[in-house]
Amino acid sequence: MKKLLHIIATPRGEESRTLQVTAAFLERFKKKYPDCKIDELNLTAEALQPFTARIVSGKYVLLGGKELTESLKDTWKNIEYHINRFLSADGYLITAPMWNFSIPYSLKHYIDIIVQPKYLFRYTDKGVEGLAKNRRMAVITSRGGDYSQESPFHAYDFQEPYLRFIFGFVGITDITFVNSQPMDMGEQTQKEKIEAAKELARKAADAF
Ligand SMILES: Cc1cc2nc3c(=O)[nH]c(=O)nc-3n(C[C@H](O)[C@H](O)[C@H](O)COP(=O)(O)O)c2cc1C
Repeated sequence: MKKLLHIIATPRGEESRTLQVTAAFLERFKKKYPDCKIDELNLTAEALQPFTARIVSGKYVLLGGKELTESLKDTWKNIEYHINRFLSADGYLITAPMWNFSIPYSLKHYIDIIVQPKYLFRYTDKGVEGLAKNRRMAVITSRGGDYSQESPFHAYDFQEPYLRFIFGFVGITDITFVNSQPMDMGEQTQKEKIEAAKELARKAADAF
């Protein structure tokens, strides 16, 4: 692996439970791939471009199978920057807490920026083809409640299914999740679950 893009979607820095689990992943990952470049993209510190009507019109030009005009290209500079940064990696690590049963808005904003026709997917006679193939992803999440397979709330986890779908849509199907849960049901449980998730994260890094 040459370049890992680490996408962070929690604003909580040192306070973050998710980042604690990510640290265990990264420690092991760096041992496995000592020469791999790690590019950190903190979505909560980065000022992502708002989706103006003009930016959105560029998407419709591409959806119509046309090229961007020179002036639209200029408007799209920041979008292309993020797409190129994303595509320059061959591995991804996403650190994201569950927010309102799904992903934090900063990560959704980033997905809206990078998932563009011609760059990350295209339509063919056989349907949609993802263009970010042969890449791997690990997603580390934490949740206040418990949405594991055994939990009665499992069906309300719109985070893991959404991320699997949207990154599968662009061609990334090799995705491992480490979900630390429940985090907000008592201090002792939180500690135990973080430790258990760290162990799973180390295993995920070994297998990455
Ligand atoms: C805006 C917001 C929305 C949240 N929504 C949910 C939720 O829908 N379900 C849940 O179980 N926890 C929810 N939580 C709790 C977080 O997922 C949980 O505390 C997590 O461990 C925080 O991770 P962090 O410390 O890495 O930021 C929410 C927290 C915030 C701040």
